[in-house]
Amino acid sequence: MDIQKLKDSLNTKILGKEILSFDRVDSTQRYAKRIIDNGRAKDGGVIVAGGQTDGYGRCGRKWFSPPGGLWFSAILKKEMPVKDIGRLVPLLALSIVEMLENTADIKAFIKWPNDILVKDKKIAGSIVETIVKDNRIEWIIFGIGINVNNAIPKELAGNAVSLKEVIGKESDLMPLLSFLICSIESKYMDFLNDKCGSCLDKYRGKSMLLGKNVKVTQGEEVYSGMAEDVDIEGRLILKTNDGKVIRVIAADSVVF
Ligand code: BTN
Repeated sequence: MDIQKLKDSLNTKILGKEILSFDRVDSTQRYAKRIIDNGRAKDGGVIVAGGQTDGYGRCGRKWFSPPGGLWFSAILKKEMPVKDIGRLVPLLALSIVEMLENTADIKAFIKWPNDILVKDKKIAGSIVETIVKDNRIEWIIFGIGINVNNAIPKELAGNAVSLKEVIGKESDLMPLLSFLICSIESKYMDFLNDKCGSCLDKYRGKSMLLGKNVKVTQGEEVYSGMAEDVDIEGRLILKTNDGKVIRVIAADSVVF
């Protein structure tokens, strides 16, 4: 990827001021954590890799990331209460959906909390991690993985899809990353200015879960009921079959 061209395409104030690009890395998330740890991380730093040997997703699941996909992490230095982390989750999912709609003209939907699906198959995922000190968030690390031109392994083909399969041609990764960096920063600024509402409304509009009967697994617990809403903290509001209303922060799996 032409990093100078990428930098020139950005109209951001923080995100992308430093871009570290690698042909291959274990995981851009792990790399981000290492440079935070050794004091070399910059607020707004972006780490992008051609391929990852040890990429991971939510719940520590392995994230298959061969060459051809878009795999990156973004680092933000921000002190805030730990409980606010859920507010950031919709922002990433929505940025990916908007990127796919604007740059590739395809309809994408969000499966709470942050799976992006096209034609019922997962095309992208995102993860929000934090570095916490004295019970306050100090750093935020956003991780995004998008199946763009990469092949999908046979064992995942029933559930995952690439952009190339959907549109029938390869895409240049640079404009996709540029769109995402700008979109994430603009939504993050809204978050800082306490204007998450419009992002959340758009997120709800793109959700494929709301209004459906779902089964949510969280550790040993399984909840079945109607997915009614997502609240400002990013929690799924579920009306269970026995009439209770519960707010689910995170889940191992959601099926409907
Ligand atoms: C998920 O759907 O569970 C989230 C997947 C996030 C994958 C990305 S790829 C770039 C970054 N580096 C990682 O190791 N993971 C994230």
